[in-house]
Amino acid sequence: MNINQKGFAGFFSVLALAGLLLALVWGQAVGAEEYDEDTYGPEAPIVFVAPVKAVIFTHKTHTMDAGLTCDSCHDEIFQMESGSTEQNDDFTMKSLYDGKYCGSCHDGETAFASNTRCTVCHIGVKGFDRMQGGPKTDAHGGH
Ligand code: HEC
Ligand code: HEC
Ligand code: HEC
Repeated sequence: MNINQKGFAGFFSVLALAGLLLALVWGQAVGAEEYDEDTYGPEAPIVFVAPVKAVIFTHKTHTMDAGLTCDSCHDEIFQMESGSTEQNDDFTMKSLYDGKYCGSCHDGETAFASNTRCTVCHIGVKGFDRMQGGPKTDAHGGH
């Protein structure tokens, strides 16, 4: 009886240990790849199409890579709603150069200046078309 109980418990602790190890290894392998939208914001890129087509913004490069927190942009500079800023008449390069919108950081100090590297932000009509025709995106891809 005593021996049986020990063997029983032993069997389960080996199982539990194996399970724990598996979870750890799996967690690390996946963790290196996984992008968590709750931590870093929506994964799908934001693509502005007005006034010009098209400007790309990705949360990943700003949050996960550059280490910015949500409140460095939301909700003072941008609403958490794609399409809202495009409705503003002053969503232009002049505003960016004056330190508004993206220009509040893209001023040559916090991040590369808005009057340089145009094509890092501007993917153009061709870039936009490529994105639409590329690998299938979720509903947000069409915004
Ligand atoms: C560097 C600036 C910046 C940071 C930091 C940032 N966002 Fe955003 N976010 C934007 C911009 C720009 C938009 C698009 C707004 C627009 O189109 O008017 C946006 C849109 C969104 C949207 C709406 C997406 C949609 O498809 O409607 C959500 C949700 C969001 N952000 C969540 C977050 C969360 C959560 C964080 C923090 C983990 C975060 N954002 C950090 C700039 C930022
Ligand atoms: C709160 C500060 C902040 C705001 C606002 C901001 N950025 Fe950035 N951005 C950064 C930082 C920091 C980096 C990384 C450092 C660098 O590249 O200079 C970066 C990098 C980038 C990059 C290069 C990396 C990539 O994603 O390919 C692009 C493109 C970009 N930003 C576009 C935008 C656009 C478009 C907007 C406005 C819709 C914007 N950013 C608003 C801080 C900001
Ligand atoms: C940090 C990102 C960023 C950089 C760098 C950038 N732009 Fe822009 N640009 C934007 C955003 C955001 C808009 C407004 C959204 C849209 O038109 O899709 C815009 C709009 C424009 C417009 C239409 C509105 C206007 O101001 O007349 C022109 C033209 C333009 N950019 C040209 C340029 C040129 C030329 C450069 C390089 C010297 C440049 N942009 C660099 C983000 C950027």
